Amino acid sequence: MRASRAHAMSGVVRVPGDKSISHRALMFGGMATGSLKITGLLEAEDVLNTAAAMRAFGAQIDRQDDGSWRVAGCGVGGLSEPTAPLDFGNAGTGTRLIMGVIAGHDMTVKLIGDASLSRRPMGRVLGPLKSMGLEVLEGDRDTLPLTIRGSASLVPIEYKLPVPSAQVKSAILIAGLMARGETTVLEAEATRDHTERMLRYLGADVQTEKRDGLTAITVTGDAELVGRDIIVPGDPSSAAFLVAAAVIVPGSDVTVEGVLINKTRSGLYTTLQEMGADVVFLNDRDEGGERIADIRARSSVLRGVVVPPERAPSMIDEYAVLAVVAAFADGETRMQGLAELKVKESDRLAATADGLAANGVTARVDGNDLIVTGAATVTGGGLVATHLDHRIAMAFLTLGLATEAPVTVDDAGIIATSFKEFGSLMGSLGATFEPAKGLSS
Ligand code: S3P
Repeated sequence: MRASRAHAMSGVVRVPGDKSISHRALMFGGMATGSLKITGLLEAEDVLNTAAAMRAFGAQIDRQDDGSWRVAGCGVGGLSEPTAPLDFGNAGTGTRLIMGVIAGHDMTVKLIGDASLSRRPMGRVLGPLKSMGLEVLEGDRDTLPLTIRGSASLVPIEYKLPVPSAQVKSAILIAGLMARGETTVLEAEATRDHTERMLRYLGADVQTEKRDGLTAITVTGDAELVGRDIIVPGDPSSAAFLVAAAVIVPGSDVTVEGVLINKTRSGLYTTLQEMGADVVFLNDRDEGGERIADIRARSSVLRGVVVPPERAPSMIDEYAVLAVVAAFADGETRMQGLAELKVKESDRLAATADGLAANGVTARVDGNDLIVTGAATVTGGGLVATHLDHRIAMAFLTLGLATEAPVTVDDAGIIATSFKEFGSLMGSLGATFEPAKGLSS
């Protein structure tokens, strides 16, 4: 796929539902007693793989004619052993959270995924879950394919996260629902808190308190979840590309309605404002237990900034597109503390720096920092390797909207894992994307 320079991006749009919340809604719905309706579920490959997995465990999951989804759960600890391996495709969140689900059931499950997922570290989740009672069969591997065996008598643990990861935190808390007693996760940096919020909303006892400068999140075991309807807000990580396009393409004015602005997810927007971007939250409101707003973004004169490491968890999925915006800022943007970017769908730190360099942008990796030097004009014209990473594909198609020559990405098909409407939504705002000869579009 190839993106060419756009004249101006303008319009009012909505983005599909948040991916993190969608995975959790299906999993927790499948573990609840009774049924619930999910409105605004993200219907992308990653989430559909989670739906298929929950069906394989015995939950009843159906899409309704009005686009909502109905989930009839089996109760906490009430799922059955699937008869075939579970294929999670490209989805790290689906895989890691489901390990927490499996941990509390007396069942053996084989987990598989695509080449990207099969390279990603699973030891970070398996370690704590093993200390609760999960077993890893067929050798002590820590990458997919993996066969794991859960236990109906899990031991509660107290665990300090060695890396700031909501996936690890969530897997442990989910397993904790089925353990005997209280399971506590301690985190030094706040990571996205959708698991805590949704579990509380469905009736679990989840407490959060400060302890010695850390946040302690405690879930009480032998829990019950009750079916209550869930509304999924627009995904801020998808809105990020539309907002970035508006900021870098001259003459633009774009509003994205109904976007999640939970503080554990809004770091990109704070950073854009610090860079001088004309990005504002309008109609800030509560919906379904989450904070949402309409985000208005207009083309802006930007300056380079230092993005501190402690902000990384709140914008971990947004660095590739921030780096694209930084290419148009005056001066240097230094994004600090990005070690976790190396273990995303690709080594996203390297993929971002390489993609920028291929398009004439001065960018370098310094340890765990990414440094981008902006310029008034960016040549573009490069071919970007996406490495099965949807966010690399979308970030560089966004770059091509403001470069002198078109930017080509080698695999736009991977975008369907999270945001299949990306091309049509960008097109409705004024973007031109064309298939590039010989490449997956
Ligand atoms: C997610 C957590 C983050 C994020 C991912 C979704 C979640 O991963 O990158 O896209 O839904 O919990 P880590 O927990 O590995 O940081």
